Amino acid sequence: MAIVKGNCYMIATAIIFVYCPLVLEGKNPPHIVFILADDFGWNDVGYHGSEINTPNLDKLSAKGVRLENYYVQPLCTPSRNQLMTGRYQIHTGMQHQIIWPCQPYCVPLEEKLLPQLMREAGYATHMVGKWHLGMYRKDCLPTRRGFDSYFGYLTGSEDYFDHHRCHPIPALNVTRCALDLRDGEEVATGYTGIYSTQLFTDRVTGIISKHDREKPLFLYVALQAVHDPLQAPERYITPYSFIKDGHRRKYAGMVSAMDEAVGNITLALQHTGLWDNTVLLFSTDNGGQTLSGGSNWPLRGRKWSLWEGGVRGVGFVTSPLIKQPGTISHQLIHISDWLPTLVGLAGGSTNGTKPLDGFNVWNAISKGYASPRLELLHNIDPFYVDIAPCPGQGFQGSVNDASVKGVGSSSMSAFNVSIHAAIRSSQWKLLTGYPGCDRWFPRPGSENSSETQSWEWGSGDPLKPVMLFDVEADPQERQEVSDKHPDIVDNLLKRLAHHLQRSEPVTFPDDDPRCDPVTTGAWGPWE
Ligand SMILES: *[C@@H]1O[C@H](CO)[C@@H](O)[C@H](O)[C@H]1NC(C)=O
Ligand SMILES: *[C@@H]1O[C@H](CO)[C@@H](O)[C@H](O)[C@H]1NC(C)=O
Ligand SMILES: *[C@@H]1O[C@H](CO)[C@@H](O)[C@H](O)[C@H]1NC(C)=O
Ligand SMILES: *[C@@H]1O[C@H](CO)[C@@H](O)[C@H](O)[C@H]1NC(C)=O
Ligand SMILES: *[C@@H]1O[C@H](CO)[C@@H](O)[C@H](O)[C@H]1NC(C)=O
Repeated sequence: MAIVKGNCYMIATAIIFVYCPLVLEGKNPPHIVFILADDFGWNDVGYHGSEINTPNLDKLSAKGVRLENYYVQPLCTPSRNQLMTGRYQIHTGMQHQIIWPCQPYCVPLEEKLLPQLMREAGYATHMVGKWHLGMYRKDCLPTRRGFDSYFGYLTGSEDYFDHHRCHPIPALNVTRCALDLRDGEEVATGYTGIYSTQLFTDRVTGIISKHDREKPLFLYVALQAVHDPLQAPERYITPYSFIKDGHRRKYAGMVSAMDEAVGNITLALQHTGLWDNTVLLFSTDNGGQTLSGGSNWPLRGRKWSLWEGGVRGVGFVTSPLIKQPGTISHQLIHISDWLPTLVGLAGGSTNGTKPLDGFNVWNAISKGYASPRLELLHNIDPFYVDIAPCPGQGFQGSVNDASVKGVGSSSMSAFNVSIHAAIRSSQWKLLTGYPGCDRWFPRPGSENSSETQSWEWGSGDPLKPVMLFDVEADPQERQEVSDKHPDIVDNLLKRLAHHLQRSEPVTFPDDDPRCDPVTTGAWGPWE
């Protein structure tokens, strides 16, 4: 059987015919709307018990499938990179950190991105919001990488109202503040004062209302919300006067605005009649940043760490096309799985991509089948450093090397356990090196309760270079069990060594001072 296109098979018989089992109910391919939230934490959505109200996310996910064993990368650029390529960061050289505004690199141009594949499948492709996949030359821009239209900002963060990004250029001994907002490839002026959650939602609903219903739509909405800076119109913050912590209170307002945005986008899809043939996906890009109001309680760690608080993501899929709506999925799913899944739904082909690390997980989501994903490489980053101090630890936590002797010698030679890395296989998660800030941050508002004093802040046992957790039984990563399962440790270290051998060298170039936006007035391509 030769693969012809997506899920179509050419069957060799006397008469050649083409069989396409997954063209949904013989209908046109579905419209696909992917909403990516920024830095939205595990404990920041209503349905996880947050004190923040998210009625739209709660309602939409209740009618769809909530993904409760769903993983993203611990940082913005890496998650977006894997979403767009269907490949692990170790295969694109982007395993280290994020792209800073003056770094001359982007997702390698020989990578074929999701919107290119959707376009080849006959889709109109539009993107609104944060790119953060590199922009030092025009070839890196979203409009050159498969999107018919783009409206948004290219760097990782900025002011929500004036859309300016401030960033130091040490070689010039200056900090530049300049606009970062584009319509297509042109600098977009005239939007000062419009809150970006509103601005982007208006653009999205505009695209939806103008869309030709006969053509399938792929719409990627990468919201600025709820990354710092902590900014929201007062009306969203007022209902949260009961939250004492100022950061958390503003953050809650930002989440409410985002929830309203998702509601407005859904309404636009319903009003235009697209909804009946739409698959809407919602995902965070990484765990919440506890320094900026986010919470991943009761999970350990935060954004920028390989603990569950950094990588276990809020996500759901909702659609009238789902076979088992109203379910909670515990299937292992990762952000790199969306590329083959969405191209599969589109009836397209992944021909032209490099070898994928993602799997088509549509049947796991829609029908509750077992996920085809048996392993998940969280990352391997030989140069890892945390950029924010961890309470009680400073910037770089220490790992207790004395405990290395607990690990068998064959596995010790298989992988350098000083390297920051983590891998998951069934219920087991193995971490090596310093995984990032390892605190259990208390539930917001409970910081001073006796419950918190006794165990929530607890720093746990000293970190070891090799740690094993059963994250199904122990999602909070409290019981380190490497001593009890030397065989599992050994196998997972060998898997890490296998992945390390196949990884690309890290790309993380020095700043190029030609990034200086002083002449153009806006951050953007300089080469
Ligand atoms: C950098 O700029 C500051 C303030 O503009 C100035 O005081 C300082 O001398 C400058 N440093 C160098 C190395 O030029
Ligand atoms: C959602 O739509 C309502 C009604 O048009 C509008 O008042 C509100 O500002 C919108 N919110 C966002 C975040 O787009
Ligand atoms: C895959 O793409 C190549 C060019 O990129 C093309 O030559 C080939 O025909 C395609 N194969 C299929 C099965 O579509
Ligand atoms: C092991 O990895 C650490 C962290 O990346 C590095 O500093 C060290 O040189 C490596 N050791 C060997 C023997 O390669
Ligand atoms: C907890 O107690 C400290 C010290 O008494 C106080 O400054 C802080 O505001 C309290 N936090 C909360 C959330 O009540």
